[in-house]
Amino acid sequence: MKLLFVSTTDRIEPWRKAFSEFAPDIELVAWPDVPDPDAIEFAAVWKYPPGELKRFRNLKFVSSLGAGIDHLLGDPDFPKHVPFVRLVDPTLTSGMVEYALWAALRYHRQILEYETFQRAAEWHQLPAPSTAERRIGIAGTGEIGSAIAKAFAGLGFDVAGWSRRGRAIDGVQAFAGAEGWVPFLARTDILVCVLPLTAGTKGILDARAFAALPKGAYVINIARGGHVVDRDLLAALDCGQLAHATLDVTTPEPLPADHAYWRHTRVTITPHVASLTDPRTAVPQVVDNIRRFISGQPLVNRVDRENGY
Ligand code: GLV
Repeated sequence: MKLLFVSTTDRIEPWRKAFSEFAPDIELVAWPDVPDPDAIEFAAVWKYPPGELKRFRNLKFVSSLGAGIDHLLGDPDFPKHVPFVRLVDPTLTSGMVEYALWAALRYHRQILEYETFQRAAEWHQLPAPSTAERRIGIAGTGEIGSAIAKAFAGLGFDVAGWSRRGRAIDGVQAFAGAEGWVPFLARTDILVCVLPLTAGTKGILDARAFAALPKGAYVINIARGGHVVDRDLLAALDCGQLAHATLDVTTPEPLPADHAYWRHTRVTITPHVASLTDPRTAVPQVVDNIRRFISGQPLVNRVDRENGY
């Protein structure tokens, strides 16, 4: 059986190795060199040039090699009748939890201030707020967002989550929909964005959102660069409305060398590494869905195209 592998960012070797160990009957065909496109029924894809999939006329379904599927949703030529599935991977999720904790604890424990003191060789002790006094807001309470919310709640933080429907999570205050957005932001000292990128969430972190956060709030974006209106974020940082931002995702990626974020004193940039898909845990999911498809069972983690997640 052939599986088309399409990625502009991943090396194929670790994937080939994982497939050969876990499912030796599946032969990986590396895009773009595909001699017989009609023989391709299954594809595993990450960040590909839009339009590339339409020449595979016999595709049955497509697996995203990440949690996000915006690369598929954003492809106007993606064949409409072909379903797609995303990864829900414990390794991916725990990487996101670690990153969110690291970035927020750095703010919470005033490490930015202590770094400034260190540069001036000054020994200053600041009063330390307790976790119960620090309000964390998680925008997006899907698989990853709810794991992050629980991790913060476990440390005693005052945690709220926002999503379209206001998912209930133990120990986390739920806000829902358009009317819950501003009240959610107004009680959030450290905002963590893990929303899916959809038509409804594109540019959601804009001047209005930054103005709704308390003065001196922090923003951590580990979702997609497209959630942020960069001009508005820079303006909110420059005027002190926001104290600092940690951005793991940008528009575009890679972030061009002359972009203002690189050298901004109130911005930390990492190159989309909050969590990386591990082929060893992702491959069993891709294979499981192929076997399910062949035996007529429903696909796991199928994406609802209307919702966009
Ligand atoms: C990474 O960005 C992912 O969507 O898995």
